[in-house]
Amino acid sequence: MKLTQRPRRNRKTEALRQMVAETDLRVSQLVLPLFLCEGKGERQVINSMPGIFRMSPDILLEEVGKAVQLGIKTFDLFPALSETLKDSYGKESLNRNGLLPTTLKMIRDKYPEVTLISDVALDPYSSDGHDGVVKNGQILNDETVEILAKMSIVHAEAGADIVSPSDMMDGRVGAIRDALDESGFTNTGILSYSAKYASSFYGPFREALDSAPKFGDKKTYQMDFRNAREALREIELDEMEGADMVMVKPALSYLDIISLVKSHTHLPVAAYNVSGEYGLIKAGAKAGIIDETRAMVETLYSIRRAGADVIFTYFALPMAEWLRKNDR
Ligand code: PBG
Repeated sequence: MKLTQRPRRNRKTEALRQMVAETDLRVSQLVLPLFLCEGKGERQVINSMPGIFRMSPDILLEEVGKAVQLGIKTFDLFPALSETLKDSYGKESLNRNGLLPTTLKMIRDKYPEVTLISDVALDPYSSDGHDGVVKNGQILNDETVEILAKMSIVHAEAGADIVSPSDMMDGRVGAIRDALDESGFTNTGILSYSAKYASSFYGPFREALDSAPKFGDKKTYQMDFRNAREALREIELDEMEGADMVMVKPALSYLDIISLVKSHTHLPVAAYNVSGEYGLIKAGAKAGIIDETRAMVETLYSIRRAGADVIFTYFALPMAEWLRKNDR
């Protein structure tokens, strides 16, 4: 054939492919979510998330040390509480001596240089398994926001650099910003789960925290997966209310949303490579359907290519190892 254009020429060697690669991924862009549990020496298996554990504070501190060695600098903490600590108002979420605040302090003391993100939502503390206060089968917005604002102060006091509301109540970013500022935490950031969809991909996370809704679903607060413009509306509101970063969640079925959001905001865009996305790759690899490492790398680069500046992922450790080994 007489071809002037042969795109394959740029793919000829590994060195050439490296040279023209459009997307980079740095270990500092990865956030490692961690599941906390009470006790000592605990490292509890989560069946649907092989390789991920619920850890007691002492073990979790070792895990953070391991991650820091690999260059991971940002952690997001979720507490798994015993049923006896849960009620419909999530009162335990305001306990300054609770599992999450005390662990935040421990990490802050031992690793002053890391970035600590704390999850702000009621579900780990709610006897109803919802992200808000439940009354007569309804998830109450304004009553919930009041609690979330107080919870944020507890986390900031304990040493969180960034609080991260994952609840999808209306007006929570503004209320949290006001509460933090009034308490002198003007430098505590807010990473808002702005476009969080009601998704089937959260299953393993709910196993990890034993936090599945006791009735109904989360569709009156999390978004409908058929909607994209609505994501822009949520992002815009969170921006106006004072968010420092916005998130799209989940990531893989929502790469178009990540891309859309990226072109509409000046804030850093985070994406959450959620528990079900992790579990599926693990299960697929175990079944011999895909190669785990290659699928992991392709997944995380695709989220980055879509426009995510920050990626929350349970693959943070193996990905950091891969980036180091492959000199990226
Ligand atoms: C709830 C919350 C969820 C996740 C993070 N925060 C689950 C939910 O909304 O039910 C999911 C994370 C994951 O699946 O990895 N506030």
